[in-house]
Amino acid sequence: MSAAHHKAAADTLSMLLRTRRSVRDFLPDPIEPALIEAVLDDAQQAPSWSNTQPYRIAVATGEVRDRLAAELCERYDLAMRAQRGGVLGKLRLLLRRKGLPDGDFQTNFEYPADLQPRRRDTGFGLYQLLGIERHDRAAREAQMRRNFEFFGAPVAVFVFVHAGLREFSVLDAGIWLQSLMLSAHARGLGTCAQGALATWAGPVRSIFAIPRDYRLICGLSMGFPSQHPINGYEPGRGPAQALRIEPR
Ligand SMILES: Cc1cc2nc3c(=O)[nH]c(=O)nc-3n(C[C@H](O)[C@H](O)[C@H](O)COP(=O)(O)O)c2cc1C
Repeated sequence: MSAAHHKAAADTLSMLLRTRRSVRDFLPDPIEPALIEAVLDDAQQAPSWSNTQPYRIAVATGEVRDRLAAELCERYDLAMRAQRGGVLGKLRLLLRRKGLPDGDFQTNFEYPADLQPRRRDTGFGLYQLLGIERHDRAAREAQMRRNFEFFGAPVAVFVFVHAGLREFSVLDAGIWLQSLMLSAHARGLGTCAQGALATWAGPVRSIFAIPRDYRLICGLSMGFPSQHPINGYEPGRGPAQALRIEPR
């Protein structure tokens, strides 16, 4: 590549990296299959440990996507009802089982103290933008529930990692996800990576023939972004220097 090409490539990539934001409200318009394939083909170029590509992908569209959204929302509603119901509610959930998280990884855990401020600021910023009061539990639950409707997106992607490659398959899946998100963004599509979609693995396993050694690590919604203000949310990052570890 010539110097001019490098400059143009760097400018384009930098722009894409800086303008990609999580999209949490989508138009219902379907994505043409060729466009979905183009994005998946780009993501396929992601590097991985010894080129093992230790992940598998389930792509839900149309009626399958709708069934999954209904199943996941049902579980979310049952889990929230149990939480509101105190000890008895939780007991009922334990006995009934449906609604109990059955994911391969725990998605609800205590945040480490040093990460908690960033998490809190990101959550509060989003709720503030939506006009949701801190103590308005019902409104927060309703917003959280949108995760399980894929925020209205026509495509839901579920990412599974090979257990045999341990943490490195998770690392590789993260690189794959970002590759997919950038390709989608470059092509006018919006995405939201969603750890929340790993809370319940049962619905996706009952529809897709997931190979034995694969574990559900994350989901992702993809579609055309709507004009909803939520899509203007830009949680800050701070300077790269803030992450640097200096020599003793
Ligand atoms: C692995 C991963 C899991 C995520 N899970 C969720 C999720 O469950 N729900 C959600 O609304 N956003 C989720 N996000 C989006 C993050 O909140 C978002 O990337 C972060 O706040 C930075 O904002 P930005 O993507 O707009 O730059 C996730 C992002 C990643 C990378």
